[in-house]
Amino acid sequence: MSQILNEIQRRRTFAIISHPDAGKTTLTEKLLLYGGALRLAGTVKSRKSKQHAVSDWMELEKQRGISVTSSVLQFEYQGHKINILDTPGHQDFSEDTYRTLMAADSAVMLIDAAKGVEEQTKKLFHVCRKRGIPIFTFINKMDRHGREPLDLLDEIEKVLDIKSYPMNWPIGRGREFTGIFERQTANIELFTGNGHGSTVVPTRRGDLTDPAIVGSMSKASYELLEEDLELLDMAGDQFDLQQVARGELTPVYFGSALTNFGVRAFLESFIQLSPCPHEKDSSSGPINPEQQEFSGFIFKIQANMDPAHRDRIVFLRICSGVFNRGMMVKHVRTGKSIRLSQSKQFMAQDTNTVEVAYPGDIIGIYDPGVFRIGDTITEKSKFSFEAIPKFQPELFARVHLRDAMKRKQFVKGIEQLTEEGAVQRFRHPDVGLEAPIIGAVGMLQFEVLEYRLTHEYGVDIQLDHLPFTLARWAAGDNLTPPMLKSADNLVLKDDDENLVVLFRNQWSFNWEVERNKRVTYLEQPPA
Ligand code: G4P
Repeated sequence: MSQILNEIQRRRTFAIISHPDAGKTTLTEKLLLYGGALRLAGTVKSRKSKQHAVSDWMELEKQRGISVTSSVLQFEYQGHKINILDTPGHQDFSEDTYRTLMAADSAVMLIDAAKGVEEQTKKLFHVCRKRGIPIFTFINKMDRHGREPLDLLDEIEKVLDIKSYPMNWPIGRGREFTGIFERQTANIELFTGNGHGSTVVPTRRGDLTDPAIVGSMSKASYELLEEDLELLDMAGDQFDLQQVARGELTPVYFGSALTNFGVRAFLESFIQLSPCPHEKDSSSGPINPEQQEFSGFIFKIQANMDPAHRDRIVFLRICSGVFNRGMMVKHVRTGKSIRLSQSKQFMAQDTNTVEVAYPGDIIGIYDPGVFRIGDTITEKSKFSFEAIPKFQPELFARVHLRDAMKRKQFVKGIEQLTEEGAVQRFRHPDVGLEAPIIGAVGMLQFEVLEYRLTHEYGVDIQLDHLPFTLARWAAGDNLTPPMLKSADNLVLKDDDENLVVLFRNQWSFNWEVERNKRVTYLEQPPA
């Protein structure tokens, strides 16, 4: 097998999606523990001891206990190279999550066994479904008394409209949760450790014909398992990897990220069943990861990751060929040639320089100020990968600078945060960038804007929220702002000089569409 094919086949690039508090940080940490990237779990994060998560880069995240930005972690497990893309849990950052999912080949949906399918799980699930990627489910917190496993499967099927297939089944519940039954092999794994979770949990393996295994289970757990297995065999869906690949069926695993019970079983099955990097659509047709020419796309930009250095890092998902540090590449949008010499990879707490990387890998590269989200990089060809859509902003505010002396930093800060995709910037057609109007998908984005302008650029701002909820790009011949103006809308320009109109609500938008037939309104900026 060629080296590149071998490298592609051993890679798994996925994102974990969940409602806040379901245990994403804990599970991520335990995957790193099992991958040998951490010696002792609990070192990554404990809110009580105020230590912060590897993936929580921003001060704000630590304070609020939410993950605002997405980060990438890499580790090896049983010969596989695993890239975990962390996604923010809060719905106000669903656009960031969407962009991250563009770079993932599969997703792990984490569910709290006591709470079932929560609001944010639903939203993120639908984002994955739109992308058509396979979704694996980990039902967490089985060490606590939660809902019955069959109930949870039923809820997943009904609420999310996806078939489910439990790959393993819990033995006992809550404090009695002492093992799992692996359905495909009929093997049992009993946890013999004390469940403190800071190290890999010792286990004993066997099957239901093994008296030592059966003897270690309580009578109640044994009987419940027999009953459940019978029910499952009668009623459940069949396992079908093709359906998993198409996102129609989700393999389900039960466990506890806190005690590590079920983490190994999940990880081993996941690396067998989840897809390795495969071809990606582009303007010149599908791009095969094995092709010799290197290519990839930018899905995330993060400024000031290290406050000591005013740097900006872009995250590149490699789609084909081999990355070698120092190589010359083509930036397709501008046609410029760029040397990729400063490249980074993120592993647990460390950031390493990366010399060679393969399809599926995510690398961070220093941005000399040319990259935008969605940009394609190739060795020489001119194709572009699928565009990354912008979400419709629904909240708008005029931003005022409090100290006029800081104008330069203010304009720079807003510009960089716009380029990162943290917010969208508009301006009044006759006014410069001193009093921009910012569009956001959620309220928290304004908080992040305010916080980051203060802490990263030393700029204090005041936000005046505006009564608009809808933005549309105006298309038509020789349009001018007065032609678009009405009593209750606001006509603006975006950074590419396109005319954008803000409306109070759907009703006033519809009214305007009826009134002014010369204008076509678009949901995205014109290409
Ligand atoms: P998140 O990133 O999805 O928001 O969740 P996180 O891992 O921070 O976990 C949220 C809370 O749930 C934490 O408790 C964590 O210890 C707990 N937790 C995670 N997995 C499990 C599990 O399998 N079983 C049980 N019983 N609890 C679990 P906390 O008290 O909010 O924070 P901490 O002080 O323990 O960090």
